[in-house]
Amino acid sequence: MDGLSDRVLIRGGKPLSGGIVAQGAKNAALPVMASALLLSGRRLTLERVPDLQDIHTMADLLRHLGAGVNFDKGRMTIDVPEDLKWETPTDLVRRMRASSLVLGPLVARCGRAVLPLPGGCAIGSRPIDLHLKALVKMGAEIDLEHGSVHARTDGLKATRISFDFPSVGATENVLMTAAMTPGESVIENAAREPEIVNLAQALRAMGARVEGDGSGTIRVRGTRSLGAASVRIIPDRIEASTYLLAGVMTRGEVTVNGINPEYLESLIIKLEEAGIPVGVFADSVSVSCRERRWRGITLKTLPYPGFPTDLQPQIMAALCMADGTSVIQESVFDSRYVHVGEFKRMGSKLDIQGNTVVVTGVPRLTGAEVRASDLRAGAALILMGLAAEGETVVCSLKHVWRGYESLLCKMESLGADMRLIPDADGA
Ligand code: EPZ
Repeated sequence: MDGLSDRVLIRGGKPLSGGIVAQGAKNAALPVMASALLLSGRRLTLERVPDLQDIHTMADLLRHLGAGVNFDKGRMTIDVPEDLKWETPTDLVRRMRASSLVLGPLVARCGRAVLPLPGGCAIGSRPIDLHLKALVKMGAEIDLEHGSVHARTDGLKATRISFDFPSVGATENVLMTAAMTPGESVIENAAREPEIVNLAQALRAMGARVEGDGSGTIRVRGTRSLGAASVRIIPDRIEASTYLLAGVMTRGEVTVNGINPEYLESLIIKLEEAGIPVGVFADSVSVSCRERRWRGITLKTLPYPGFPTDLQPQIMAALCMADGTSVIQESVFDSRYVHVGEFKRMGSKLDIQGNTVVVTGVPRLTGAEVRASDLRAGAALILMGLAAEGETVVCSLKHVWRGYESLLCKMESLGADMRLIPDADGA
């Protein structure tokens, strides 16, 4: 994956057809990897870990802290020593916001942690105030000095944490911290994503008692001595949905295998509302859109089980080609519309009104050179290129390699005409 070109040339207009297998979920693997820090002199084994830039970044961070990480063909072992470092390097933390997931485990394990404040990114300011407020409630002292969080504690205490917003990362940080804090902690207004449930499975396997994961209230009975464990990472619902939308936009027939259809319920509901029938099976989902038109719809992104914000750019791309008007409201992030400008370069009609975008469907899109601003916007631009007439070049693909394993192989197996091209300066 390293050294992959940063640009792809796509010749659009070809219906995709065939099946792909969903990768392991990036946003489940990252917190489960961080939870390994709760072990002392023991091993955490993970199955179905996707081979992605962000996974390697987290592995490098764990190695920096003293863990031994081996990763081969989806199987990862993390051996955690009795003594861990508790200062995290700025370059790794700034590269990936999910690095903040080591904060709770380090405070629980070492009584201390120093974490450079993760930067904002193209989709918003992305503070970690909810994480910090919860750790203070559990007995940590937090100082912000020189752009870093300095956390320390003489002993955490089990308590009740109630979130103002069901933050995924904050729920994960508190869940991991509570798993190592003796007594019963209760997390209210917790995030309910499937990735939270996968993390809870890992913590239960280590010996913590966790109940209610997947609901808004999670009860944790922690223990200082967590044991070696093995956990299988769930399939990636956002990657799976991205390929289904590729099938819709190219008016082809695409099946995603190895996915739990429950994870895609909000997408399935919206596709059927748009007039796109979806095939739902025990562990696969399919769309068949030959010659099909679809209607405009209204949707609002919400925490799970609502429509996922990580699918907002991709469904917006599909609605750019709908018969009629759609209204999309982004309620999770404060500025997740950077991709709108790039969509317009391909002939889309979009009008941003505050945190809402009005999408006027057009009969066709035309290829152009466009630039990815973040992971999901980059994926959406690839979908636009697959559907557009003519050639599209998508630049800044480094964002896309962070979250989509073997994307070129998978798309080519579905019949996409796309290939990497040298960077503009011939590098
Ligand atoms: C996770 O990010 C995902 N990342 C994101 O996926 C996803 O978009 C997001 O959840 C929402 O589903 C990983 O799991 C690694 P949040 P996270 O805390 O935990 C605000 C991708 O494409 N907030 O639920 O950072 C925040 O600013 C990535 O894979 C605070 O205000 O999301 C945002 O507006 C992109 N204070 C909202 O809550 C806090 O302390 C949701 O954030 C924390 C969050």
